[in-house]
Amino acid sequence: MESTRDRLITLLAENEDRFISGQALSDSLHISRNAVWKHMKDLEKDGYQIEARPRKGYRITAYPETMSSNTIKWGLDTKWIAKTIIHKEKTGSTQTLAHQAALENAPHGTIVIADEQTEGRGRMNRTWHSNKGKGIWLSILLRPEMLPNDASKLTLLAATVLADVLESTVQTRAHIKWPNDILLNQKKIAGILTEMQAEQDRIQYILIGIGLNVNHSKEDLQEDIQSKATSLKIETGQDWPITHLIQELLKSFEKSFDAYMKSGFAPVKEKWESYGFKIGQPIQIKTFKDEWESTFLGISEEGALLTESRTGEAIKLYSAEINWFPENK
Ligand code: BTN
Repeated sequence: MESTRDRLITLLAENEDRFISGQALSDSLHISRNAVWKHMKDLEKDGYQIEARPRKGYRITAYPETMSSNTIKWGLDTKWIAKTIIHKEKTGSTQTLAHQAALENAPHGTIVIADEQTEGRGRMNRTWHSNKGKGIWLSILLRPEMLPNDASKLTLLAATVLADVLESTVQTRAHIKWPNDILLNQKKIAGILTEMQAEQDRIQYILIGIGLNVNHSKEDLQEDIQSKATSLKIETGQDWPITHLIQELLKSFEKSFDAYMKSGFAPVKEKWESYGFKIGQPIQIKTFKDEWESTFLGISEEGALLTESRTGEAIKLYSAEINWFPENK
């Protein structure tokens, strides 16, 4: 249930350039004009700048720099995503919190976000460094009507959303390294960790964990990853507004998810391949019994990696150790 304060922020955001009268707010929110005034004072305490004019009403002229569930909601006109926002300044991992929230029946589209993670998790049990205020550390809770086998398609979809947002907001062309590393200039800028709770034929929930390095300078990156990782600031030479990027990410995710549920995976596959790293180029594949060099052909209808066997037939790989840079071997 949305709080009065949330609804007030939504109303003000919808009328961003216009004044909205105290009476209109009081009518819409079913509270007294005095209560409206008190809410405005609270918003000011949180860093919102409010212009109040006699006979005209209220207008928000600036919102706080710091991230909060209110600033994320500010002007976010989504249908179902981020209607519930759990924001923490500091937490172990947003994935862990999101699992808890899911078990307590948090709805489809809930997001969990933190300024800092002390135990951020990456794929394959790796650590994900999540410095305070430098990046987007976000988990999206989904309850899709979908078979567990299709879950990996959502990871690929999330990767295309990240690449799209980097292109539209930052005007920079990202690549996706299969299955879901986002690269800028061949260095990793973002990663996705998908975790799910499912029965054999039914997904209970999926968590799409997204980590995007935004305002790190080189020294902010751990020494062991400095040669392989990067941030938007390192690549573009400027700081980027984190809350705005989160909003763009959420809007774009909702749109792509809805399109996928309606039209299936083919458009996602096409988009993924348009960003695909090293498509048509040699890669080295290692399975538990063999190792060979082959060409990365793209992804299949189910999102598997398409390549050629040692004898030249097209094969699909669902998981394998891949060396993307055989030339450096
Ligand atoms: C990877 O590339 O290995 C995936 C990294 C995923 C990191 C994100 S940050 C938000 C969410 N919480 C976590 O602990 N991990 C994911």
